[in-house]
Amino acid sequence: MNDKYFLIMAKTTQSMLEGEGVLKKAGIKTDLVPAPPEHGTVCAIAIKVSAADLAKAEGLLQEKAIALAGIYEEEPLKLIGLLEKLGKLPVAGDFIKIIQKIEAGSALEKEEIIRLLATRQPREAEILFTVADRVQQKIVGDRVDIRGAIEFSNFCRRRCTYCGINADVAGLQRYRMTEAEIMAVVAELHALGLKTVILQSGEDSFWTREKLITLLQRIKKETGMRITLSVGEWRRADYAAFKAAGANNFLLKIETTNRELFAQIHPDTDYDQRQESLTWLKELGYLTGSGNILGLPGQTLADIAADILYFKKAGINMIGIGPFIPAQGTTLAENPYGDIQLTLKTVALTRIVCQKVYIPATTALASLAAEAQTKALQAGANSIMLINTPPQYRQQYNIYNQKNYVDLAAAIQAIRAAGRLLPDYLSPEIVARFSKDQAHNSLRETGGGESGAHRA
Ligand code: 5AD
Repeated sequence: MNDKYFLIMAKTTQSMLEGEGVLKKAGIKTDLVPAPPEHGTVCAIAIKVSAADLAKAEGLLQEKAIALAGIYEEEPLKLIGLLEKLGKLPVAGDFIKIIQKIEAGSALEKEEIIRLLATRQPREAEILFTVADRVQQKIVGDRVDIRGAIEFSNFCRRRCTYCGINADVAGLQRYRMTEAEIMAVVAELHALGLKTVILQSGEDSFWTREKLITLLQRIKKETGMRITLSVGEWRRADYAAFKAAGANNFLLKIETTNRELFAQIHPDTDYDQRQESLTWLKELGYLTGSGNILGLPGQTLADIAADILYFKKAGINMIGIGPFIPAQGTTLAENPYGDIQLTLKTVALTRIVCQKVYIPATTALASLAAEAQTKALQAGANSIMLINTPPQYRQQYNIYNQKNYVDLAAAIQAIRAAGRLLPDYLSPEIVARFSKDQAHNSLRETGGGESGAHRA
């Protein structure tokens, strides 16, 4: 908050990414952040540089003939008048103090984050959500980004104890989609007008670096879509090769920043290695995704506050926050569900603390209750991931029980219910076609999951 920053917008996403690479190479500290709402759709990104580096950055970009659309000073967040607007509040004095701090644009201390996470006062929670919503509107605007995910293999060599497709889970039918099957779905997403496809899988040795590169190149060549990879840990050279082949974003969640807990739930993954991977991904120019699971065994509010501060410090661009949901066949299968309300409060605080980031209203949240996804969109979340895995495979990508298969109609419904705007890349025809109140919600249709969902 103390330093001044500027946002540089290039004319195209491609030149934005290219430009960031140029600046990085010259030793300028940069960050890729969502563009402010008045200067682009939620999909557009900007290069953030400090005031001290601005002149040098401008010169370098000019030298490389990178066409700029504008340079804007980053405005400090001020939500003046919010408390007055909320009326005379029957809430505790220490709570008001923290809200005033947010209003004034000051950074929150860990203890303050914990205090807000801990609230059990419905009134306080509502105010927290409202503040997060304001921050979100001011920082990234009203539009929700929709991305399509293809879960292309459920083979996995890892043994993460919470995950329903881990290598030890017996009795799960394993599948791999072929390149042709994946491309067919990509073509559908492209035809819908979506801009980003997420490729997710277990850590499957069949999908080698070479095979993934071929796939990435085909997607880029045939659709030009932005590509998010969510395929676990690789060597630095592999991440670099994927980037060169067309990958733009990479999701690799930390799940928890409590080292002991991380080790306990990841018997064959190293905490430092995971953090190092994220550093590499950033260095290579990816937009990086992280996030956590709420309701892991022994996890405390202090752990969650530390997670949020880590996302900020690490400069994570996309932060997925979901409640723990037990998965059949895992050692945590009998553990209790994560708490919906705590998840929403964490979403809100992540928006308030990290500000210019993408926060999905996660599938895990939608799986516990469809309304929870809507609520997340009203408490700081600004994107939705559709599950576009073909029906014959969906059930087998069972990372947790009762997973909801959020489709475009469900996403449109949630965005409207939240009073938020649809992405501008969806044509009126597409919106009309998917607005016929035909949202697919597997829980509602089977009627099976909902009672369990509210155990949280
Ligand atoms: N409960 C909640 N989230 C889970 N994930 C995996 N298993 C579970 C579970 N049992 C999440 C992890 C992972 C993402 C793909 O799904 O955060 O990164």
